[in-house]
Amino acid sequence: MFVLLLLGGVSLLIYSVVRYYQFTARYPKGPKPLPFIGNFFEFDFKHQHKSFKRLGKEQNGIYTLFTPIPYVQITDFQIIKEAFVDKGDDFVDRIATKVIQEAFSFAPNAGVINSNGDNWREQRRVAISILRDFGMGKNMMEEQVMVANIINETLFGYRYTHEECQPLMKYVGDFNTFIDHLADSKGMMLGMGLPFLTNLPIIGWYTFGRFQSAMRKLCFQINEYIVENVERSLKNYHVEDEPTCFVHAYKQRMPQNDSLDMDNLMGCCSDFFLAGQETTTTTLRWAMLIFAKHPEIQEKLRQEVHNVVGKEHIPFMADQQKMIYARACVLELQRFANILQTNVQRTASRDVEIRGQIIPKGTWVNADIHYLMANDSLFENPEEFRPERYITDDGKTLRKNLVERTIPFSIGKRVCAGEGLARVELFLGLTSTFQHFKISPRPGYDIDLEPTPGQIFLPKPQKLCIQQI
Ligand code: HEM
Repeated sequence: MFVLLLLGGVSLLIYSVVRYYQFTARYPKGPKPLPFIGNFFEFDFKHQHKSFKRLGKEQNGIYTLFTPIPYVQITDFQIIKEAFVDKGDDFVDRIATKVIQEAFSFAPNAGVINSNGDNWREQRRVAISILRDFGMGKNMMEEQVMVANIINETLFGYRYTHEECQPLMKYVGDFNTFIDHLADSKGMMLGMGLPFLTNLPIIGWYTFGRFQSAMRKLCFQINEYIVENVERSLKNYHVEDEPTCFVHAYKQRMPQNDSLDMDNLMGCCSDFFLAGQETTTTTLRWAMLIFAKHPEIQEKLRQEVHNVVGKEHIPFMADQQKMIYARACVLELQRFANILQTNVQRTASRDVEIRGQIIPKGTWVNADIHYLMANDSLFENPEEFRPERYITDDGKTLRKNLVERTIPFSIGKRVCAGEGLARVELFLGLTSTFQHFKISPRPGYDIDLEPTPGQIFLPKPQKLCIQQI
């Protein structure tokens, strides 16, 4: 009897292992997964980019990592383009599991970042159209960009003075805690990939409940900030007035468009606030450290700003045409100090063939723009910070092939919705800072460019010397 049971058990195990490998064989080839747990233990969840770097070098531009759910990584530029641009409709969706919807969205399927389908399309279209009306990426926004907390002003119509910016600083602090929790949660990764686990007793606690209760408090505080600000802004709304901020413009469009409602208004504000607050400031914080470490590059940039704009006037976007070095500096900054450890995940909306391999419907996909910009062979010595790499030998134009591969905002239909604003912020932030200030390390101190571990690469706090020019 015992022998029969043992034989039965062993047969079942062998059968399950065979089935498991039949299942993994349906995905693009990658590092060999262990039965059932896949590559879970060989993946460093806290320093994901280090695992991605090692694997990217071993694999061939596209591979699957089983974390344990299948997670396709694309590291080759041409393949990213084929998937996100040529087959853009097949990779336009975000992951829509309970964990994502509860943790990241103001309300299920609301807003832009994590919504899908017709609602995503409409919210994105309306939000970008409103921001364009306010001059996103054009000259009209330049004055706003020159002041602090730009996105606050764009969305809610007011900005904080330095003395009263406590609520804003609290939001930023809460958000960073939120991101840190995320980066370090293997259990949550399991829950995201295998949602049925989150409904089981005990296991559900480790894959969702534990995370949820910590996050609920934080999300509540983050959402509270958004709700307070939207309500504060709506108090000054008058239907007949020309809208002066995102909230007013959205509210004005509501009666003509059934897709626009309060949940989506809050969701859009939350998404644009979240994505617009930390991204450009973090990139500019990196800039201060990197340019302090490279005084010769800083001086060359300053010389160009002084030659083209002078010392009295602030730079404008129109000046870009005459400032090839400044443009190269922004490109190199975003390449070298790319801030997102992984791209925002997409899923395959049907079985899609890429380079002869099938990515089955529902698979998570990461177009690994970080790996690309840090390792692509077209970027010679990619670990060096060298804006000159972008400029042709005659010094007159940018190298198209390198510019094309510098994609911190990603590509395709989900490309960053704030790219226009971010580009203005970065160009003006960089040029106007070095126009007026010389930034250098404190005597005797080295600049540390190793990021703190986490989903967003944040620079370590360190003091610098700032000298007005
Ligand atoms: C240095 C600055 C920034 C970087 C590097 C950046 C990068 C990204 C990336 C990689 C994505 C994911 C795209 C994809 O799924 O393929 C994204 C999405 C998004 N970004 Fe940005 N971003 C920046 C600034 C901003 C700003 C300033 C805003 C708002 C004003 C913003 C709003 C958004 C939104 C709403 C999405 C979601 C788009 C969608 O799902 O349709 N971003 N961003």
